[in-house]
Amino acid sequence: MPAKLSSIAAALLDWYDLHARALPWRSPPGQPRADPYRVWLSEIMLQQTTVAAVRPRFESFVARWPTVDALAAADDAELMAAWAGLGYYARARNLIACARVVAAAGAFPETEAALRALPGVGAYTAAAVAAIAFGERAAVVDANVARVVARLFAISAPLPGAMEAIRAATDTITPADRPGDFAQAMMDLGSSICTPRKPACLACPLHASCAAYLAGEPEAYPVKPAKAAKPQRYGTIFWLEDAGRVLLVRRPPKGLLGGMRALPTGPWTSVPPVLEAAPAPSNWQMLPGTVGHVFTHFRLELALAVGQAHGHAAAGEWWPVADLDSAGLPTVFAKAAAEIRRVSA
Ligand code: ADE
Repeated sequence: MPAKLSSIAAALLDWYDLHARALPWRSPPGQPRADPYRVWLSEIMLQQTTVAAVRPRFESFVARWPTVDALAAADDAELMAAWAGLGYYARARNLIACARVVAAAGAFPETEAALRALPGVGAYTAAAVAAIAFGERAAVVDANVARVVARLFAISAPLPGAMEAIRAATDTITPADRPGDFAQAMMDLGSSICTPRKPACLACPLHASCAAYLAGEPEAYPVKPAKAAKPQRYGTIFWLEDAGRVLLVRRPPKGLLGGMRALPTGPWTSVPPVLEAAPAPSNWQMLPGTVGHVFTHFRLELALAVGQAHGHAAAGEWWPVADLDSAGLPTVFAKAAAEIRRVSA
């Protein structure tokens, strides 16, 4: 490993020797490795929830089932009950299935590749258990570690596509000596110092090597995925007037702006509208221009049709145009009303 990269692990392990969190599934920094059963169990529990939430649950779990053999012999229903609140039940089912495979084999397998074959053990868990319980040099990348590494290397590709580059970069700094302490040090650094917002860079043992810090923008990493462009939809607003009053309707109770008072519209579609679903026959005229509005999940462009009712029946309320401000129209309709009145004044 190049000296610059190995100095990262050395600085981090020095920091960990002083600042490691004491957690019930860990052995202290530099001490003999922790029990694989406890390491595996904690990693499965931590997939779903936080260290603070897992801690007491872990203690009572291992008090009830202190070994993988005990867990393999557990009553399924009792185990499921003990798992309550720890996430998906599929995970608890895999937990007991895995315990039975391991108990039947006599011990946990000791390599990342063999661990990966166990029920419920994914790429992350296999790497974590291999490194922490068996001292294998494996790249352990959870969300905290991904953030630390994306910053250290200023990885500019957006997530989640950047994960492979992040994993490869993690591999370049993972030491052969103490890989389990290294992995857990990265996790601790990510949760205490290299936080998503306002990272405490001056307290970080790696800041002198951190490309994001040196560029003055640690929070810019990891780069978030570009927001998907919002789809464009089109519709028509129908402004139907009769003797100084305009027709308002109630929108259907379910769906966007459900139950609100509104100007009548045709359907909102992905192509610009034809004159469709007018609230009454009229000499409809299209006004020049459109009104645009951005909703959470799409953009809407509304064409504006105006007509006179001439006594034709139409379902809705006839509202005095001069008093339209008191109708409580949602913004998109208030905007359209203002534009129609401006253009046709
Ligand atoms: N999150 C997942 N695994 C962890 C571990 N071993 N220590 C601290 N946080 C973790």
